[in-house]
Amino acid sequence: MVTTPAQQCPYAPGGDDEAAATHGGGPTLSFERATPYVEYAGVDTLLSLQNTRTDEPAETAFIVSTQVMELLFTLVQQRWEAARDALEADDVPGALAWLRRACHAQDVLNASWGLLSDMTPTEFNRFRPAFGEASGFQSYGYRELEFLLGNKSAAMIRPHKAMGGVVAELTRLLEGPSLYDAALRLLRRRGLPVPDDHVERDWTADYEPSAGVEHAWALVYGDDRPGNELFLLAEALLDVAERVTRWRHSHLVAVKRAMGAKPGSGGSNGLNWLARNAEQDVFPELWSLRNTM
Ligand code: HEM
Repeated sequence: MVTTPAQQCPYAPGGDDEAAATHGGGPTLSFERATPYVEYAGVDTLLSLQNTRTDEPAETAFIVSTQVMELLFTLVQQRWEAARDALEADDVPGALAWLRRACHAQDVLNASWGLLSDMTPTEFNRFRPAFGEASGFQSYGYRELEFLLGNKSAAMIRPHKAMGGVVAELTRLLEGPSLYDAALRLLRRRGLPVPDDHVERDWTADYEPSAGVEHAWALVYGDDRPGNELFLLAEALLDVAERVTRWRHSHLVAVKRAMGAKPGSGGSNGLNWLARNAEQDVFPELWSLRNTM
């Protein structure tokens, strides 16, 4: 079957039958102003943002990949927050649906590393001095994700102190239960023996792994029938966790390839500091319980 571009386009469904008929079934070709597509998606603004500071072509890939990832951070955040809220509302099927969607966004996020996979140190060195002290470490979108995972640190808000809105948003996430905290609170409401200090605590503190929490998850894994929604929840959280670890490792490899073990532009010692972060298990008891299963 032959399809017209209008039929293939995701913006086409719900279009105007009458308008289509007047163009012989093809798309509208005449507009008085910028096309509705450009206005709706802000395409002109979007494409005006790739402000490279050198003539090195690899810098374009560096900026585009950074911007693509920042956009995807916002999508992942939206989906993790929706999953957390569903858990707090005792809606496990809702949480599972949002976690599945978050994983799809994380898959695209992780695939974005492909844009930088062929950058050589020589290319990187040609534009590195141009971005000065800029570092992904200063990404508040990424920090919001880390807080949502439970990796809390008030000190990590400090670099953003000149941006009031960012501080407010990071503080909101610092002071509330993380996605994992919400899962543990739900487990407890379902009768599992999650320790008291893991269902109510100072949410601003970094998450501390607990033998009691590991035991509660072990009980969940005791019934691995597909009808056990808590078991499905555990595995869905692990799907999220694994993708976060994959992102960190892909970043590590990209850094090693582009600049080896030299210090980072953000002031850290680079590879060693990143490797330590990459080693931290996300939702730790879901991993540690596998040591004894
Ligand atoms: C090959 C390209 C890249 C290199 C060489 C690189 C290098 C580094 C280094 C050395 C650090 C440690 C902090 C510092 O001292 O600067 C860092 C942190 C970070 N970078 Fe990159 N980076 C690259 C690409 C990206 C991209 C595309 C993103 C996407 C936004 C990104 C996001 C981050 C984040 C979020 C951190 C903080 C990680 C954490 O807190 O654990 N990086 N990067």
